[in-house]
Amino acid sequence: MTGEPHAAGLHARHKAVIPDWVSLYYRDPIEITHGEGRYVWDATGKRYLDFFGGILTTMTAHALPEVTKAVTEQAGRIIHSSTLYLNRSMVELAERVAHLSGIPDARVFFTTSGTEANDTALLLATAHRRSNQILAMRNSYHGRSFSAVSVTGNRAWSPTTFSPLQTLYVHGGVRSRGPYAHLSDARFIEACVADLEDLLGHTGDVAALIAEPVQGVGGFTSPPDGLYAAFREVLAPRGILWITDEVQTGWGRTGEHFWGWQAHAASGPPDILTFAKGIGNGMSVGGVVARAEVMNCLGANSISTFGGSPVTMAAGLANLSYLLEHDLQGNARRVGGLLLERLRAITASHPLVREVRGRGLMLGIELARPGSDEADPQAAAAVLEAAREGGLLIGKGGGHDTSALRVAPPLSLTVAEAEEGAAILERALHSI
Ligand SMILES: Cc1ncc(COP(=O)(O)O)c(C=O)c1O
Repeated sequence: MTGEPHAAGLHARHKAVIPDWVSLYYRDPIEITHGEGRYVWDATGKRYLDFFGGILTTMTAHALPEVTKAVTEQAGRIIHSSTLYLNRSMVELAERVAHLSGIPDARVFFTTSGTEANDTALLLATAHRRSNQILAMRNSYHGRSFSAVSVTGNRAWSPTTFSPLQTLYVHGGVRSRGPYAHLSDARFIEACVADLEDLLGHTGDVAALIAEPVQGVGGFTSPPDGLYAAFREVLAPRGILWITDEVQTGWGRTGEHFWGWQAHAASGPPDILTFAKGIGNGMSVGGVVARAEVMNCLGANSISTFGGSPVTMAAGLANLSYLLEHDLQGNARRVGGLLLERLRAITASHPLVREVRGRGLMLGIELARPGSDEADPQAAAAVLEAAREGGLLIGKGGGHDTSALRVAPPLSLTVAEAEEGAAILERALHSI
């Protein structure tokens, strides 16, 4: 069964009505019609092992019965009531997230996306500090709104230089490229801190630093552990807030930690934390956590009509309970550790592989032209295509050259599935 005409027809209709800047994977894009566990099926009936989870969003599993049941039952009772009335499931999820966040006296505001969560964090920080200056990391991604693209240090995802903010980009999010790449971890951190101090010497009162602990769209790159704690030592005495964007790194994906910021915990928790993607397992749940003093600084009313809606909150609660009861963070650490070793082994002598990196179930394979550091986006696209043909979905990312393969399956991945995916990836890498 080829299914070609069906997918080709839908692709033509897609192109005729959807903006050009919403790009699709694959030469012949696929339509995913259903999923179960860590597998999905396309409209032709072909099965794939899903190592990307719809961009790190299917966090526990596809068609998880607990989430489906919670959504169905809530939809049968009431779908919407608004923020004008008490919402039990919103309060309950807020209590659980506030407790898990590590932020003292925390308040939680629910949004419908990661973009809106970061936009809210920037609104809070700029209002609290009465400044529109923001520090962001080079190679970062924080979403698609006017404010989010203006703190996104990846030009492939930042379509305008007009901005409500004055953004200053800081070194440190990419360990193995740039002027400090040759330094030891400790010297790398020292150099980034010295650069930050120098930068602050030339600015006014900066509102906040926003950073992804592991850069997602940037190709799963990260600084040495402790960099953001060292930054904090510089920022906190000046009153500059630390916003951690946990949209990809939250809920235990990195294995060792529940939040990415915990790899930088020496100087305490962040001031503001944003989350989205995995918590709703595909339902649109995002949010911001901040201590009361920061969250309550706004001098006008604010709501999100759909943020915290009953059906999405029911999904979030069921999904979070499943995650915690089945220790999926521990699973990400164990199975992710095995998968990382396996990926290192199968790529060890591959001339195109520049680096295998990441932690937990957030693993990146960066490709470069043989014998050089030059990014190879064509090779990355070819491996993605070959993996799909072999029955494996993975992602791409990294700078504006998009030469890193991204592996981020649901956190319930089994050892057998990790082996299966690694074997398909090995064949894909060797086929190009
Ligand atoms: C780190 C990070 N922040 C924010 C966003 C934006 O989230 P959303 O697409 O839900 O608006 C993304 C999306 O990929 C992300 O990876």
